[in-house]
Amino acid sequence: MKLQYLGHSAFILEKENFKAIFDPFLSGNPNSAIKPNEIKGLTHIFITHGHGDHIGDAIELARENQALIISNAEIVDYFSEHGLKTHGMSIGGRFKFDFGTVKMTPALHGSAIPTSKGPRNGGNPGGFVVEIDGKKIYHAGDTGLTMDMQLLEEESIDVALLPIGGNYTMDIHDAVRAVSFIKPKVTVPMHYDTFPVIVADPKEFEEKNIWSETKILNIGETMEL
Ligand code: NI
Ligand code: MN
Repeated sequence: MKLQYLGHSAFILEKENFKAIFDPFLSGNPNSAIKPNEIKGLTHIFITHGHGDHIGDAIELARENQALIISNAEIVDYFSEHGLKTHGMSIGGRFKFDFGTVKMTPALHGSAIPTSKGPRNGGNPGGFVVEIDGKKIYHAGDTGLTMDMQLLEEESIDVALLPIGGNYTMDIHDAVRAVSFIKPKVTVPMHYDTFPVIVADPKEFEEKNIWSETKILNIGETMEL
């Protein structure tokens, strides 16, 4: 299984015929190394919450690839109105898909969807625990530190994708505390450096994180898991 970082909170997770993207903020991201039309064969799109830097290019990607969008019920309603294939979930819910199992986790954040008619209710923000062939990936979405993260320890997470940029999410200090709760094997920092208010040094996170291995991915870089 391969995990590729596309900058901000965007990742591609790929195994054989399964190819999913998380929070595909590509064309709007000044640091993005890839354009949406360069991504082919996408089967699934995970959206953690309604903000523009997470919905990103989801509509174009879903349309071009006939990909299934997995998100909360309110965000899925919005995409369904665009004629896209969707699967709605809610926080705490787990569902067995053909590729593996997905559980939605809570996030402490907002979720309004920006539209041409103004903000639209995007339900509760969340994250995902995705299990494929016995490997578990946790994408936290945008969140502050929560005690709920202690519940993730028993999930035995292999790779945790955690925001470290501060201002809108956990900063490095709180992200390290999150790792101490979750105890994943590997942590990949995300949601930093995209905007001036979320500049953070992932090497500082790596130094302070004594709770798991840290894997800093450059934009465009892929890791095996
Ligand atoms: Ni957000
Ligand atoms: Mn964000």
